Amino acid sequence: MSQEKVAVVTGSNKGIGFAIVEGLCKRFDGVIYLTSRDEDKGKAAAAKLKKRDSDNPHFHQLDVSDKESVIRFRDFIKQKHGGIDILINNAGVVAPLNNNYENCKTVIDINYGGILNAQEYLFPLLRDNARVLNISSNCGHLSNLRNMDWIKRLSKKDLSKTDIDDFVNWFLESVKKGTFKRSDFADGGTIPSYRVSKVALSALTMVQQKELEPRGISVNSIHPGLVSTDMTMHIGFLTPDEAAETPVDLVLDAPPSLKGKYIWYNGEIVDWFDYKSDRYFKVTSVGKQFLKDVLRLPAEMFFSPAMWVGVLTMILIIVITKIFE
Ligand SMILES: NC(=O)c1ccc[n+]([C@@H]2O[C@H](COP(=O)([O-])OP(=O)(O)OC[C@H]3O[C@@H](n4cnc5c(N)ncnc54)[C@H](OP(=O)(O)O)[C@@H]3O)[C@@H](O)[C@H]2O)c1
Repeated sequence: MSQEKVAVVTGSNKGIGFAIVEGLCKRFDGVIYLTSRDEDKGKAAAAKLKKRDSDNPHFHQLDVSDKESVIRFRDFIKQKHGGIDILINNAGVVAPLNNNYENCKTVIDINYGGILNAQEYLFPLLRDNARVLNISSNCGHLSNLRNMDWIKRLSKKDLSKTDIDDFVNWFLESVKKGTFKRSDFADGGTIPSYRVSKVALSALTMVQQKELEPRGISVNSIHPGLVSTDMTMHIGFLTPDEAAETPVDLVLDAPPSLKGKYIWYNGEIVDWFDYKSDRYFKVTSVGKQFLKDVLRLPAEMFFSPAMWVGVLTMILIIVITKIFE
């Protein structure tokens, strides 16, 4: 069994996860696992980063919402390395426009269920003083909620996993029964399943911190900014490389006292409980960023048909989202 330090990044075949692996390859002295649910995509991504003089990054299949896959990965790491020093739970999906039950359940199963699977199967491998970073969103700040009962319950000092599970199930049941109320959420209740999954993830981060505290392990969550990736149709004020900087700094350089916090993309520690603050996600911020991106394009691109297909798609998405508010 190797004695080297081990870092694992979930959902890292592309986007922010891939950029985090690239950042770790430059700075982390140990074995780095680029993992992805699709074996071919993951191997291709790892091959792009692999240098002749280094084995990093290594690849292993890992679908965070598939318990069998997580168990296979757990067994592999246990046998080969015995433990994990850095775990970045990055894998995630955004909600499709149609908020039907199946779509909402898929988002919750990956974004929140994936973190629960990591907690159940990978946390037992965490070495003392390990670092865990859960990739949240501005959709994960408590100010995304307008329902005072849930704001109060999720703000409890003795918050438990049961409270968070109940919150997630309350939402899914409301979608199933047709009793879902947009007024329970900020921004007219846009992308509610994504908001619920990320609020749950950030709340769970604090519960996980309490559990791992005695072993000196830190667990934090971060909003990575609006980042130009497939998830945002490449609209964003940060590139994946820029967005990866704070997560990499946090797992390598943050003081050990930074624990159970919700962190903004610029490294600012944000009060997650401040439900009256303006931290919540607004659909219009994506539209505004899109216009900024378009206005910065060179003239030849500005007049290309592909650009205008993009503009019309974006306008259509904003209009449809507003109609369904
Ligand atoms: N981009 C933003 O502006 C933004 C803002 C706030 C938060 N975030 C969060 O940042 C994280 C990374 O997002 P991104 O922008 O880099 O998106 P992305 O480019 O779409 O990448 C998402 C990654 O997650 C993987 N994934 C999805 N479901 C998975 C599963 N069940 N098991 C394992 N991997 C899975 C995807 O794999 P496939 O290639 O197989 O789909 C992909 O590698 C997500 O948690 C997202 O919610 C992003």
